[in-house]
Amino acid sequence: MTVALTGLKIPVHIAIIMDGNGRWAKEQGLGRLLGHESGAENVREITRECSRLGVGRLTLYAFSAENWKRPAPEIQGLMKLLADYLVHERKEIMDNNIRFTAIGRLHELPEDVQKELAETSRMSAGNSGMVLCLALAYGGRVEIVDAVRRLAQDVKDGRCSPDQIDEKAIARCLYDPAAPDPDLLIRTGGDLRVSNFLLWQISYSEIWVTPVRWPDFTKDHLHEAIREFSRRDRRFGTIQGL
Ligand code: IPE
Ligand code: IPE
Ligand code: MG
Repeated sequence: MTVALTGLKIPVHIAIIMDGNGRWAKEQGLGRLLGHESGAENVREITRECSRLGVGRLTLYAFSAENWKRPAPEIQGLMKLLADYLVHERKEIMDNNIRFTAIGRLHELPEDVQKELAETSRMSAGNSGMVLCLALAYGGRVEIVDAVRRLAQDVKDGRCSPDQIDEKAIARCLYDPAAPDPDLLIRTGGDLRVSNFLLWQISYSEIWVTPVRWPDFTKDHLHEAIREFSRRDRRFGTIQGL
């Protein structure tokens, strides 16, 4: 751990809305896809640093359910980048003992991406270090829709009754039921919104937003977010600390 972070609380689960690639590219006089390329490079740096700091889980919002509305060439470019990332990062993932997973409507992704996702997940399944989870074709609302459908089917088939449906039952039907809720939610690019990310899970997450575009987001910015997180008083509705 760096001196700057000694004694600070390291969040168990950090979730990041990696926004601002397009604006970054525009500001450099480049096309949007070059912004996404630069953003993909940065995923490696930030993943490595989180793993080094002892973060338990890092969830990265890489492609939203709504991002399908973008122009086809941008979507194709993003999918190609994703497939390349999944192949090229395997060594880095294995060298750092990272367990790779993904959440979202993964069946909507191109087949080659699904294949590389499955292979990277399979290969790293036995790793015991940080969990790296990519949110892909992910929307918080459709995740809840998918969970409710499963519960409705359980009721229909007699596996549970309506009065047995509680928060735990819903949480068990989310894409990754074993994942703890994020402690810290970071958004780059400066917009003050959650853009349909982990709606159920971020109820009590601490939110930290920076105007810095994702390709420019460095380890130092991450440390700044963690320092700020450490200073927050998380009350969860109680009066503790007041
Ligand atoms: C985030 O960057 C990456 C994805 C949504 C895939 P954007 O592409 O949204 O970048 P801005 O918001 O236009 O700058
Ligand atoms: C959120 O960014 C999605 C990802 C970072 C993958 P967007 O750029 O899609 O969000 P909006 O459209 O600004 O809300
Ligand atoms: Mg954006």
